[in-house]
Amino acid sequence: MRKDRSETNPCFSTRRLKLGTFQTNLDSGCVMSDLEGKLAISWPNTVTLAKLADEMEFEALVPVARWRGFGGATNPQGSGFEAFTWAAGISALTERCGVLSTAHMSLNHPIMTAKQGAVIDHISNGRFTLNVVTGWNQPEIDMFGTPMLPHDERYDCTEEWLQIIKRLWTEDEDFDFEGKYYRVRKGQLQPKPVQKPYPAIMNAASSDRGRQFAAKYCDLVYTVLRGGGVDRGYDAWKEHVQAYNRLAREEYGREVRVWTLANIIQGETEKEAQDFYKYYVNEKGDWAAAKTAVETFMLDVNARNLPAERAKIMQEGLIASWGGYNLIGTREQIVDGLAALSRAGLDGVILCWPRYEEGMREFRDVTYPLLQQAGLRDFT
Ligand SMILES: Cc1cc2nc3c(=O)[nH]c(=O)nc-3n(C[C@H](O)[C@H](O)[C@H](O)COP(=O)(O)O)c2cc1C
Repeated sequence: MRKDRSETNPCFSTRRLKLGTFQTNLDSGCVMSDLEGKLAISWPNTVTLAKLADEMEFEALVPVARWRGFGGATNPQGSGFEAFTWAAGISALTERCGVLSTAHMSLNHPIMTAKQGAVIDHISNGRFTLNVVTGWNQPEIDMFGTPMLPHDERYDCTEEWLQIIKRLWTEDEDFDFEGKYYRVRKGQLQPKPVQKPYPAIMNAASSDRGRQFAAKYCDLVYTVLRGGGVDRGYDAWKEHVQAYNRLAREEYGREVRVWTLANIIQGETEKEAQDFYKYYVNEKGDWAAAKTAVETFMLDVNARNLPAERAKIMQEGLIASWGGYNLIGTREQIVDGLAALSRAGLDGVILCWPRYEEGMREFRDVTYPLLQQAGLRDFT
């Protein structure tokens, strides 16, 4: 029953540019805006998006683990489906796409996480990837009455947490674990996941400590692109991605696959696409909710230290696309942008659309065929 994960998990395929979706389990999807046609969360609506992704054989459907919204006029991401139960249902209703669940190390016990992940791996027949987050949204962690560890220590704790999960997924004999944060007596897990040696693991940290953790323990790492841009050439992006690959290779003797997030704003003309961006961000944006999210991110417990002038830019980024890179233009420009991301060395791009369903349908019908023609979906 067990299979090498490279045979079953699309995240490990040789496709030149892998694709995914982000945050389709939460209300508003990836925008903070009063935009009509944005994702209104319901089970039929999230399944529709998953099936569209399945048709295009997307490699990574990434839900977000979120326990409360960000207030403001629209309370974005406030209503939504819990990531593991969502992933189980989505796995049963799809056939080809990769499915992720996201676990908060401080809220999801490692034995529970290992067990749930193994079940989803069986439901999906080996298409499951675990996204590990250490938690930054203090109000939602406070809901549980769980103390938040200092920033870097959260990763020390996550190292133990992940070690227990990997042992449960791989070891046949019962084992004891005595750590600083966890104690396990006669730990065991059956059945093992389908994927051998264990399901893929992803992390999306941006801090230095987080990047070290991701490079050392994870298979897929997510990065926010710095510098560069489609118009400004992609050398800066390339350097940024290569730096991540080098970190994993030189410090830890490992290979990681680097992904990023991009938001697709497509129009018949470039101007139409730009006008739409201005409409849903400047006119319809929920700036109060974005301010709350940025202030939460800046709390001392997250050790950020971002200059104040960055706060406004961050707010706009959250309103537009949860900080993803905005690809704005005609279908040809969108394809050129994705080609540039691929040339920069990115293995995959998680996508989102402001009007999720309308955007994904248009992408499937008119943009995806161009992407295929450009060879970006070929197996190498
Ligand atoms: C693609 C992506 C997915 C993420 N998913 C979640 C999530 O589901 N829940 C959450 O609390 N944080 C999520 N995060 C936040 C990060 O995983 C991480 O906790 C945050 O960047 C802070 O870590 P750092 O301080 O080490 O950079 C996500 C970030 C990205 C870019």
